Amino acid sequence: MRLRVWDLPTRLFHWLLVAGVATCAVTGFLLPSRWLAWHFAAGYLLAALLVFRLVWAFFGPEHSRWPGFCPKPGAVIAHVRAVLAGRPHASIGHNPAGGAMILALLLTLTLLVGSGLLTVGGMLKLGPFAFFMPYDAAMAVKELHEAAANLLMVLAATHILGVIVESRLLREWLIGAMLTGWKRAPDGSPTPRPRAPWAAPLAALAVAATVGGGMALSHLPKAGWHPLPPLPAYAQECGTCHMAYHPSLLSADSWRQVMAHLDTHYGENAGLPPQRRDAIAQWLTANAAEQWDTLASHRLGRAPLAADGLLSSNSWWKRKHRHLDPAVFQRAAIKTSENCAACHRDATSGLFTPQAIHIPAP
Ligand code: HEC
Ligand code: HEC
Repeated sequence: MRLRVWDLPTRLFHWLLVAGVATCAVTGFLLPSRWLAWHFAAGYLLAALLVFRLVWAFFGPEHSRWPGFCPKPGAVIAHVRAVLAGRPHASIGHNPAGGAMILALLLTLTLLVGSGLLTVGGMLKLGPFAFFMPYDAAMAVKELHEAAANLLMVLAATHILGVIVESRLLREWLIGAMLTGWKRAPDGSPTPRPRAPWAAPLAALAVAATVGGGMALSHLPKAGWHPLPPLPAYAQECGTCHMAYHPSLLSADSWRQVMAHLDTHYGENAGLPPQRRDAIAQWLTANAAEQWDTLASHRLGRAPLAADGLLSSNSWWKRKHRHLDPAVFQRAAIKTSENCAACHRDATSGLFTPQAIHIPAP
């Protein structure tokens, strides 16, 4: 006989999770960081899916509930032995090894989503944790995020291998079961208990509360970044030959140096009356890199200015932009690598988030 083991929400969850993890893996491991906007979007999807799955683990249909993916260690070992001997027992829901794998996958994913949110919160001042996460802590959590990502790839590969091996040994295509929901069962098996009547509304409520709460937190003031109203004199005097760089891109010392030698400024004379010069210098040094906790302030601003005084000569900057063909910088809408705002729509805020990267077409 055949039984409907996986209900539609469980199957949707499974395949959306696959899509989300695949998107995160490709954008995280393979593509340069301008694709990270997709990584974040998929990460938010995974967060919502995990909240749904938590509700389903308690109130979903029989085989989606947590006892199914919390098998006893003895049962897991016995099952793996049986598989190695080529004679696994068919299970109606998850087999013991499969159940243990689901638990490992869900816990690793939770760790990944949590550490990812903490990382972007501190590094890019994005998302629900930007209100408290410091940059340095985020860099440490990033290591954890990357380790968990590697672990997830190993687990996912093992999971797929396990499904293929079991499918062959049991002569039942388990991937098909996760698509249709139907599985073979011994005659006379009882129909699996359906989900609780309040499971779907509760899951919808939990996901909505998570999304709403996350959005509310995202709108709190960010730790280490704040909107800085531009100084009109700075925009007028220093924003004509090139963009008016955000003060966080240079240290107070570097700004003092730049402002002390304006008459020999990169081969140009940018000299100003002393009073106007001092007012600008005062504003720049008061808002220099040391006052910020952003990615750019740490990687560019706090670093000593390169010998030629160009931001694009900074070694971290070069590494970040190595995927770009040098010819790109010569495009009419860009002109030079120093024209940050041509590609970074949020350059004047000092944030430089991946979502705001847009390379003008030739
Ligand atoms: C007459 C034109 C001119 C004016 C006015 C001018 N600059 Fe510049 N500045 C340059 C040139 C040229 C460079 C070299 C980089 C480039 O080609 O954009 C440069 C580079 C810089 C850089 C190095 C960052 C980088 O990677 O390019 C800083 C910082 C800077 N200028 C600050 C200022 C400030 C502050 C003022 C206002 C007091 C100012 N500039 C006014 C022409 C100018
Ligand atoms: C031609 C377009 C272009 C210009 C000009 C440009 N960038 Fe970028 N920048 C990028 C791209 C694209 C990336 C992401 C790396 C990738 O996807 O290859 C990036 C990455 C960054 C990052 C890291 C952001 C992150 O989220 O990882 C910072 C910070 C940054 N750029 C700062 C600057 C500064 C400062 C300037 C000006 C001195 C500048 N960029 C000029 C295109 C540009």
